[in-house]
Amino acid sequence: MSVALDFIFKAPMATLPEKGSFTWKAPSNIALVKYWGKHGMQLPKNPSISFTLDACHTITTLEFKKNKKAPEVGIRDMQVPTDKEFKIDIFLDGVKKPEFRKKVAIFITRIAKLVSFISDYDLVIKTHNSFPHSSGIASSASGMAALSLCIMSMEKALNPTMTDELFYKKASFLARLGSGSASRSIEGPVVVWGKHQDMKGSNDLYGIPFPFAIHKNFKNFHDTILLVDKGEKQVSSTIGHNLMVNHPFAKERFNQASKNLSLLSETLQNGGLDAFINIVESEALTLHAMMLTSHPYFILMKPNTLSIINKIWEFRAQTNAPICFTLDAGANVHVLYPEKEKTRINQFIMNELLPFCQKNHYICDRVGFGAKQIL
Ligand code: PMV
Repeated sequence: MSVALDFIFKAPMATLPEKGSFTWKAPSNIALVKYWGKHGMQLPKNPSISFTLDACHTITTLEFKKNKKAPEVGIRDMQVPTDKEFKIDIFLDGVKKPEFRKKVAIFITRIAKLVSFISDYDLVIKTHNSFPHSSGIASSASGMAALSLCIMSMEKALNPTMTDELFYKKASFLARLGSGSASRSIEGPVVVWGKHQDMKGSNDLYGIPFPFAIHKNFKNFHDTILLVDKGEKQVSSTIGHNLMVNHPFAKERFNQASKNLSLLSETLQNGGLDAFINIVESEALTLHAMMLTSHPYFILMKPNTLSIINKIWEFRAQTNAPICFTLDAGANVHVLYPEKEKTRINQFIMNELLPFCQKNHYICDRVGFGAKQIL
C-alpha cells in the first residue's frame, strides 16, 4: 500500500461530540539546508533539514460544531465541499480575520479527502503567534502545523487506537499540503523533509526527526533572530518556488542541496562546528543567489542584512567564536551559536548587531523539541 493511502481516514471507531475543541502549540523552524523549488502537490525538488525552534510558535484552538448536513450516524459520504462551502471563521488574537479565510479554506478543501469527517463540521480557528504578525517571520509553518495537529486530534478522537507514529506522520503530511516547510514544524529538534539516500525513512511526503544521534555541540543551539525588516514578504513562497521552474541553475542547485545534506548530517553527528558554519552560511547565500539570478529577479537582503553578516565575519575572524548566520527568504538574520558560547556572543549581538535591527527588535530563540497539545 502506498504511503499516501495509509493517510486516508477510514471508518470511525468512535464518535466525536456535537461540538468541542482542541488546542495545539506548534513551533516555527529554521532551515539549515533550504527547500526552494517544488512540484506536483507541494512536493520538494530537493531534501531540506531544519532546527525546530522553541520561542517562535503558534497556538491554535480549533472549535468544531456538527453542521446541518452531517448525518446522524457515521461520516457523510459525499463529494468534498468547495472551499466556499466550508464554514470557517478565523480569529487572530481575538480579532476576526476574514482575509485569512481563503488560504485556510483552500487548505481544508485540499486535505478534506484525507480527513473526510471535517466536512461534517463548522470550524472556528482561534490563533495566536508568539511573534508579531509584522515581524517578517512567516507564521505559515507554525500556523499550518498547529492547525493540522488540531485536525489530527479530531481524527484521533474518532479512531483512538491510532499510533503516535501515524498521528505525527499524518500531521506533517497534512501540514505540508498547507505550506511545505510546515511539514518540519511538528517534531524536533532536527527534522528532515524530502527523500535522501543517507536518511532512512526520509521521503517527500512528510518530515521525519533526524535519524541519527546529534552531537552535544548542537544540543540547545541558539538562534537569535535579528529583525532587520519587519515589512510584508516581498516575494510570496508560491512565487518564490516558481522561480526555480526553468531557473538556469536549478539542476545544479538541487544536487548541491542533497550533497550539503549529506555533509551536514555528518557534521551534526560528529560535532564539527567549522563545517556546520560553512554549510549553513553557504546554503543561506545560495538561497538568495537563486533569487538574484531568477526571472524576475529579487534582492531580498537589505543593507543592514549585509552589515550584520560582515560584523559576524569580523567577530569570528577576531575571536574564533563558532557563530554563523542563516537567512530565510527575507532580510532578517538568524544568528546561530552553541549554548556554551552564549555569554560572549550575546554581548556581541547586543553591542554590535542590534543597531542594525528595526527599532532594536530581536527574538531570542533556541532549538526546541516540537509541538505540544495544550487542550
Ligand atoms: O514553506 P514555504 O513554501 O513557505 O517555503 C519556505 C522556504 C524557505 O523558508 C525559504 C526555506 C525553507 O526550507 O524553509
